[in-house]
Amino acid sequence: MSHASSPTPLRSKASGPLSGTIRVPGDKSISHRALMFGALAVGRTTVSGLLESEDVLATADAMRAVGAVIDKHEDGSYTIDGIGLGSLLEPESVIDFGNAGTGVRLTMGIFGTHDIAATFVGDASLSKRPMGRVLDPLREMGTSVIARDGDRLPASIRGAKQPLPMTYRVPMASAQVKSAVLLAGLNAPGETTVIEPIPTRDHTEKMLAGFGADITVKKNEAGERVITLKGQPELKPQDLEVPCDPSSAAFPIVAALIVPGSDITVENVLLNEHRTGLITTLIEMGGDIEISNRRVSGGEEIGDIRIKASKLKGITVPADRAPSMIDEYPVLAVAAAFAKGDTFMPGLDELRVKESDRLAAVARGLEANGIPCKETEDTLTVTGAANDIGGGIVATHLDHRIAMSFLILGLASHKPVTVDDGAVIATSFPTFASLFSGLGGVVETADGEPE
Ligand code: S3P
Repeated sequence: MSHASSPTPLRSKASGPLSGTIRVPGDKSISHRALMFGALAVGRTTVSGLLESEDVLATADAMRAVGAVIDKHEDGSYTIDGIGLGSLLEPESVIDFGNAGTGVRLTMGIFGTHDIAATFVGDASLSKRPMGRVLDPLREMGTSVIARDGDRLPASIRGAKQPLPMTYRVPMASAQVKSAVLLAGLNAPGETTVIEPIPTRDHTEKMLAGFGADITVKKNEAGERVITLKGQPELKPQDLEVPCDPSSAAFPIVAALIVPGSDITVENVLLNEHRTGLITTLIEMGGDIEISNRRVSGGEEIGDIRIKASKLKGITVPADRAPSMIDEYPVLAVAAAFAKGDTFMPGLDELRVKESDRLAAVARGLEANGIPCKETEDTLTVTGAANDIGGGIVATHLDHRIAMSFLILGLASHKPVTVDDGAVIATSFPTFASLFSGLGGVVETADGEPE
């Protein structure tokens, strides 16, 4: 699947105070997993608040391709009639994941221990991203793989006839890799164990437990998370409500901090501790951010976040916080552009293999808009509060978060900021532009039409 439309340059410009109460769309990580686990359960799972973005809809199609029946209903909810673990059908055609790294990597895990063959393709961004991090452990479990050089897409797999459970230590901080191995372990006999030296988002563990899998999480002597899953459970369908995505909430949060006079509330946001690093960081930078109405829904903490425009100061962001805000560095860099002094962000090696080389894309985008920054192999330093910023054209490299982050920059810059492609935003946040215009922000096409 390529993006629904051809590249559409967008620009944003200095906007009046942002105000209002909003909800951003459903969490992307939970939405992918809801569709996958619903497909693996026996019976009907219902999901409300599913993120209807290109990435998630690609996962829905992949699950349909192996036999799940997925329908949208009049009230906006979805049902998934699961085919059941172990009973997946062989897809009849190539599976196109578009831009979706989470979708393809987790699906490879699921298919890798089913006796089916499947071929995966993606867009130009996904085709550059490393799949070996998932394919290597799958090979050890018995999956056969033919992939393009460097284990890139397109890739074909033949799932193991007799899958082997395994113990795997995840070599990088990646929830996708952890999840792919656990999902492969679902259809292997015996116990699959994943050791996670650096904790990452735990939606797979929590949601699998909710679907009835026998899964335990302990700490070993070295303090590492050890996740053990008993293979071949019968997964039971669930009724799920997807909370709002903190990685999408990040954009209005930063916008409200940097656009003078703003005061907004973002409701119903997922506050899972592995996802809130940006909020912690922005508060340390002096952001006026208040969380209220904390509650638990579907096993996850959620809450409402009120943000008022603030004078920010530069800080050093601890490297070990990176996994809890890995998708938020581009928009943090934008906040840092308005902070007094330097913001130093170490531990960013994983940003090099996201939808784009995000470290380079952010640095080039800042430079194009007159914001001093310094990039090393795995760090970024942004020097804030420059005068006369904006006016640049930012290359988005098919990366939705680069596009959205730099449109946020433009809302508080002296001169408009243009991104070369706003169509990619549909991969995670299709309502981005309309939501910002509702708050009072100007995001428009390059010829001045409201987007
Ligand atoms: C995700 C994990 C993260 C994150 C991605 C979603 C997930 O990727 O960047 O947007 O849902 O498991 P990595 O596992 O590559 O860090």
